[in-house]
Amino acid sequence: MTQAIAMEQAKNSAEFLDIVYGEYTNREITNAEVDFIASKIRKRSRILDIGCGTGRHAIPLAKRGFEVVGLDSTKAMLEELKRKLDCDGMKLDLLYEDILTCNALGEEFDAAICFWNSFDQIAADDAKGRTFFQTVYRSLKDGGKLILEISNPKSFDPSTFSYQSTVERNGLTYETTYSLKNYDRVKKTTMGNERIVVKKEGVTVKQVSSDFLLKWWEMEEVADLSRRSGFKHLDIYGDDYAAFKETSDTLLFVMTK
Ligand SMILES: C[S@@+](CC[C@H](N)C(=O)[O-])C[C@H]1O[C@@H](n2cnc3c(N)ncnc32)[C@H](O)[C@@H]1O
Repeated sequence: MTQAIAMEQAKNSAEFLDIVYGEYTNREITNAEVDFIASKIRKRSRILDIGCGTGRHAIPLAKRGFEVVGLDSTKAMLEELKRKLDCDGMKLDLLYEDILTCNALGEEFDAAICFWNSFDQIAADDAKGRTFFQTVYRSLKDGGKLILEISNPKSFDPSTFSYQSTVERNGLTYETTYSLKNYDRVKKTTMGNERIVVKKEGVTVKQVSSDFLLKWWEMEEVADLSRRSGFKHLDIYGDDYAAFKETSDTLLFVMTK
């Protein structure tokens, strides 16, 4: 693992990621995503999971016989993933790397996946978007696929987006708030703050806070990047894995090298 990691935006929330965002990442949603990924690639494919986080997709894909490499620029995410692998008696190759500066990848993968707005976080401006696509393209074998999932910013207003959840788990209460600090209409970026407060019997036992910069990539922009990077074929899905519509909350791309 290299030490030169540019940003660790999400380091604070790693230990809580699996608990507090169930609305987006619960078992039913994750199983459907894993089914979809498995339906698009050959059995036992070698998959690069970019921004793998705590292994929401990496672990179930590995259990289904795929050879998964998890890549993330946040050490705490990989440590949480490693803890889960140890519990299950599993091993996976994990790369502590920033995908935008990573030189360690050869033309070795049958597929790359990038889920749950990781792309919006990684590619916070146009130049980073181009670098991401060039790096992923180079890491894929001919015929390899990139499966990328983000939110469709035309289906909601990023300039007013907020999130709140309260989750009870094992005698603890997790209160999560995502609030917007700044919206840049020209760059289509938001800077937001995520705050998680953990309470036991009403008393705060831990709290963490992180700022996140996200660029809200639109369908046409990603499709354009895909073509310019050399991907030959592009399918675009929306909600429930049906064809994409302007009103879809989800934007899901499957592109082939
Ligand atoms: C919202 S989480 C998604 C985690 C996982 N893909 C999932 O669906 O559960 C975004 C992840 O992207 C990672 N990340 C952000 N920028 C990155 C970069 N430049 N290179 C690699 N990983 C990055 C973060 O550390 C975080 O784990």
